[in-house]
Amino acid sequence: MTPAERADELRRSIRRHEERYYVLNDPEISDAEFDALMVELRVLEARHPDLVTPDSPTQRVGGRPAEGFATVEHSVPMLSLDNAYTESELREFDDRVRRLLGDVGSEPAAVAYTAELKIDGLSLSLLYQDGLLLRGVTRGDGTRGEDVTSNVRAIRAIPLGLVGAPAGLVEVRGEAYMPRGAFERLNRQREDADEPPFANPRNAAAGTMRNLDPALVAARRLGAYVYQLLVPAVGRPATQADALRTMRNWGLPIESHWHCCLGIDAVIAYCRRWQEARQRLDFETDGVVVKVDDLTLRERLGATAKFPRWAVAYKFPPEQATTRLLRIEVNVGRTGAVTPYAVLQPVRLSGSTIQMATLHNEQDVARRDLRPGDTVIVEKGGDVIPKVVGPVLDLRPADCRGWTMPAECPACGSRLQRPDDEVVWRCPNVSCPARLRRGLLHFASRRAMNIDGLGESFVDQVVSTGLVSDFADLYRLTAGHIEGLERMGPRSSARLLGEIERSKDNELWRVVFALGIRHVGERGAQSLAAHFGSIESLIAAPASAIEEVADIGPVVAASVRAYFDEPRNVALVGRMKAAGVRMTQPVAAGSSRPLQGRTFVLTGALASMSRDDAVAAIGSRGGRVTGSVSTRTSYVVAGVDPGSKLEKARELGVPILDEAAFLQLIMGA
Ligand code: IVH
Repeated sequence: MTPAERADELRRSIRRHEERYYVLNDPEISDAEFDALMVELRVLEARHPDLVTPDSPTQRVGGRPAEGFATVEHSVPMLSLDNAYTESELREFDDRVRRLLGDVGSEPAAVAYTAELKIDGLSLSLLYQDGLLLRGVTRGDGTRGEDVTSNVRAIRAIPLGLVGAPAGLVEVRGEAYMPRGAFERLNRQREDADEPPFANPRNAAAGTMRNLDPALVAARRLGAYVYQLLVPAVGRPATQADALRTMRNWGLPIESHWHCCLGIDAVIAYCRRWQEARQRLDFETDGVVVKVDDLTLRERLGATAKFPRWAVAYKFPPEQATTRLLRIEVNVGRTGAVTPYAVLQPVRLSGSTIQMATLHNEQDVARRDLRPGDTVIVEKGGDVIPKVVGPVLDLRPADCRGWTMPAECPACGSRLQRPDDEVVWRCPNVSCPARLRRGLLHFASRRAMNIDGLGESFVDQVVSTGLVSDFADLYRLTAGHIEGLERMGPRSSARLLGEIERSKDNELWRVVFALGIRHVGERGAQSLAAHFGSIESLIAAPASAIEEVADIGPVVAASVRAYFDEPRNVALVGRMKAAGVRMTQPVAAGSSRPLQGRTFVLTGALASMSRDDAVAAIGSRGGRVTGSVSTRTSYVVAGVDPGSKLEKARELGVPILDEAAFLQLIMGA
């Protein structure tokens, strides 16, 4: 077989496996076998660059993160759909369709509809030219959207090339979504890193597509389905069912549970069936899209200014249950915000057990007149977090009293404060143990100071015994202090102290992020550190100078300024410095130790070098190779036939480099 033939075979085989994995949810080979095919193709293409084709799976993620997205106009506006919330609204839709068709021809007794699951993601337009993916654009305002081509290419469910599609331009529209499993994994990682979780898979998918780095899009494993075909008039399918089958044959991902229904009764039966059955799907669906099947009839029906007249989106009612509101308690966050939450008698809802629900703020509780002891209706709508809809007044016990916000912080007894123009009460005490606990957990979290082993049990103990009353105190702990604590033997104490010691070398941005300044996330901290270069310059900077930093807006700038205007915070930074936290700036590019501080784990064979060469290449650039994967591993390099370390890396969310990416890192370094 010639290299060209082998490359072609590999590309086809990879596309087939991508489809089985990302579209059909039914992989035929293991991830390791899949990765091996990718590596073989990459190596082949590296040796024969002329064999690289634009639709090669190696070309999904390429180049650097984008600076921003350009806006482009849609060929035909991307309309949204009118909603139907009840079965009778579905019947009204059908009546209207039949009446309108009767006005322009003979009124049909029953209209043929296609019923498709409504995918809860974000809509995309995909443009193919001569079968090759040319452009991907978000819906935007319906007239103009954002060009997100490089992110769309990173979605493995979307083919880079179509098989058997006509020459010229073909536009299809559909939805990118985040599968439930990927969503749960992502939120677990975010919680570990003290980042706010996404409220639902739709927000997660939208947030992912707005990201400027296609590598991140690829790692989030989005799915996609298309449901609309726009082609020039010639060769156009006659019905929606034909269009779906045609797109499927070209290799596009189609959600397989669509159904042709003759008459509205069949549509209603479909909706009823999926209202229950949707829990078993791997993606979230919030309803059923009902479309007139015959495309000629669609044209006759046309559109209003906002919606097509030939389709409607039936929305599933949110699932509800009733249970007892046992108590209302409050939670103190790391910025001091005190939020009420409902403690509920556990109840099953949408496949999970609910025992708590957020109540947002005091006014929210008052507005709905929720009282401990009430029977309440809880609901799970588009958000994963359940909501308390309201009390069932008929079931309210006679002695049921209203609830008021405590006047004092439940953790430290300080009087809570609330500025007149805000709804949130706050504990003003910066040394409040509840704030301190949350703050320490954030400080030590993986994305911040990355102190492995500094978990909740440890934090509870050092705070309640008074050993630690701010971040700087962590750096004064000795074995004598902590060995006696619960779950702290000599070995784990030594390990933890080693971790704390190591964290003194963390770069400045980690420290800035770890301080927990309101509104300053990881990215903001990186921008601030890169711009100011030292904590002293940041502390001294006026708000106007902070606002000039890339990615930093006025709210963040004001918050940073307010933080350092508080003398206690400046003193805290001083104590941290005195305790040995260096707040270093990373070594500039071009220096000889660019991989300083990064740890690598190698698994599987590399095609381009021996293991020893790889270890030497990493070592000579200041990096370190270790034998096992942990949350502290910076990268796992996966060659051919990787072992269980790759699995472990996936589990822990450690970035995985294939051979090409590893070479890029080494060469660039
Ligand atoms: S058809 C003219 N089919 O729901 C509009 N839309 O509420 C044609 N959606 O904007 C849209 N699944 O983002 C259609 N099977 C499906 C869909 C679907 C999800 C989204 C789409 C649309 C919104 C309308």
